[in-house]
This record gives sequence, C-alpha cells and structure tokens, in this order.
Amino acid sequence: MARKTFPLSKVYGLLEPGPVVLLTTALGGRPNIMTMSWHTMLEFEPPLVGCVISNRNHSFGLLEATNECVINIPTVEIAEKVVGCGNTSGANTDKFERFDLTPKPAARVGAPLIEECFANLECRVVDTGMVAKYCLFVLEVVKAWIDPAVKNPRTIHHLGRGNFMVAGEKIKLKSKMK
Ligand SMILES: Cc1cc2nc3c(=O)[nH]c(=O)nc-3n(C[C@H](O)[C@H](O)[C@H](O)COP(=O)(O)O)c2cc1C
Repeated sequence: MARKTFPLSKVYGLLEPGPVVLLTTALGGRPNIMTMSWHTMLEFEPPLVGCVISNRNHSFGLLEATNECVINIPTVEIAEKVVGCGNTSGANTDKFERFDLTPKPAARVGAPLIEECFANLECRVVDTGMVAKYCLFVLEVVKAWIDPAVKNPRTIHHLGRGNFMVAGEKIKLKSKMK
C-alpha cells in the first residue's frame, strides 16, 4: 500500500472519537452553551473527564468563575444547532433563545441541562493544574441523566472542517475491558 503523508494540521480529525457535546455554564442567571469535541475520559468512577476549553471562548471565563458545568450529549437531529452553538459567542448571544433550545434546572450544579439532549452530565471542576498550559479542565461527573426513550442515540463525531460522522451501527465482541 502506498502511504501518503498526512498534514499535521488535520491529525485531530482522525483521533476525535467521542461525540460532539454541548457544554453549558451559567453565571448571574445567564446560561451559555458551547460546542465541544476535545474531551476524553480519565477515570471510571467517579467519572473524570478532561476537556479542552479555549481561553478565547466566553465559556472559559464562566467555568473558571463557577467551577460548574453540564456536558449535554446531542444527536444528529439537532446537528445544525450544535454547529450553530460552536460558531457564535455567548458574550453577545443568548444561544438558548437563538437556537431554540430549552434549559432545565440541574440537580447538583448551577448550569442548566439541555432538554433536547438525550444525556446530561452534571460536572464540577476538580483539577485546574493544566488550565494555564493547555486550557485543560478536569471535570468530575457528580450526577448523570439519560432519556430512556432514546434507544439508539445517533451521536455526531467531528472529523474537522465541517465534516461529521454519525454513529449508528453497534457490534458486540468478547472483551475483558469493562
Ligand atoms: C464541532 C465543533 C467542535 C468544537 N470543539 C471545541 C472544543 O473542544 N474546545 C473549544 O474550546 N472550542 C470548541 N469549539 C469552538 C467553540 O464551540 C466556539 O468557539 C464557540 O463559539 C464558543 O462559544 P462561547 O464563546 O459562547 O463559549 C468547537 C466548535 C465546533 C463547531
């Protein structure tokens, strides 16, 4: 097989396996939504999630100020809203209103759940040691919600530059991994 060199600037599109999510934060009664695909699991239980949130984003300041957020997991049905939330700033836009999404009070944190997402993970920041260098926040999931009516969530996965993959097919294999 003749391999071709691959541009380093596009590598992230090969390695982004997790679903694109909507991160909600809130300060002073004003909630915000940010689209995020740079996240990774760090621990099973309690679940720890590492998230890269650029310090150019409005959400960065809200998360630094409150140490609380919700990771909301959308499906392809609202993909255009998801991209919209990733192309506008909460500094000058109420994204719940603009994209017709519904905030619902969370149980353990001040940031809202997004009703239109099939799963919502309420999170607290537990480690800021890598924020200054990488904008990497370590979050602990303190409460998780799921909509049992959504049987096969078709999550969306970012490949870069406006390209997405939609999850769908499931296969089961013997594995020692829990
Ligand atoms: C598909 C997609 C994935 C994104 N992933 C991230 C991410 O992982 N981290 C990040 O800081 N910004 C990410 N962004 C960009 C932010 O969502 C964008 O800058 C947004 O406008 C920030 O909103 P805010 O200023 O209201 O916080 C992504 C955008 C899109 C469209």
